[in-house]
Amino acid sequence: MTARGNRDRGHLARPRDAGGTLAVRVRPFVVAIDGPAASGKGTLARCLAERFSFAHLDSGKLYRATALLVLAAGADPADPDAAVAGARRISPAALGDPRLTSEAVARASSILSALPAVRAELLTMQRDFAAHPPVLAGDVTPRGAVIDGRDIGTVVCPDAAVKLFVTASPAMRAERRVKELRERGAPAIYGDVLRDMKERDARDSLRRVAPLAAAPDAVTIDTTGLDAGQVFEQASDIIARALAAHRL
Ligand code: CDP
Repeated sequence: MTARGNRDRGHLARPRDAGGTLAVRVRPFVVAIDGPAASGKGTLARCLAERFSFAHLDSGKLYRATALLVLAAGADPADPDAAVAGARRISPAALGDPRLTSEAVARASSILSALPAVRAELLTMQRDFAAHPPVLAGDVTPRGAVIDGRDIGTVVCPDAAVKLFVTASPAMRAERRVKELRERGAPAIYGDVLRDMKERDARDSLRRVAPLAAAPDAVTIDTTGLDAGQVFEQASDIIARALAAHRL
């Protein structure tokens, strides 16, 4: 049976092993969270990971780390060769670089994320993470994985057990991003952040490969009038129900 065949049969797949007997293979429970810039999906994903003991991957960091490597090499983020070379050089340490949060890196990551070859390179890493969520701190076995990004529910993990699409008004998102940047000691002007964010949203939504979009089976959470705690409660309820339905 092919990998696709197993995937199409739902969360539990029963492939035949080489000896012809039935072996039960359990695929990890995956929560996919997508949404535009500064919608609150990152904070939500981190909190959910902690609450439910999931391994967490912020897929935006893969694109940002690629962008940082490309910019550091003095190359153009729109150059496919330079961008793919950057994607291949990402290391776990690179994902913790504080420079990833800069607006220049955000802009460059949005430019190179439209390149199909870059997306293909990073897709493998994300699917590996979903298929084999890494052990948590304290040697705890994760109950599954939560991955946040733009195309997790549509392309990376189309068979995720839970799909959330987290959004908010552009004004609210720009306000949150300004606050985040200032808390990190970075200068931030509201008008500039709003303009850059809208530009990035448009590029992410209009690109031909894996555009920012809600999967048809995603639950949309509009966080405009909500605080992080309220969003967390809504999402936690959805996940708790799905875990119970999967008997996990
Ligand atoms: O934190 P924020 O929502 O502003 O951005 P991010 O999640 O760190 O993503 C940075 C950029 O990477 C986005 O603007 C996208 O262009 C790209 N990205 C993507 O194309 N696909 C993903 N799954 C995640 C990020």
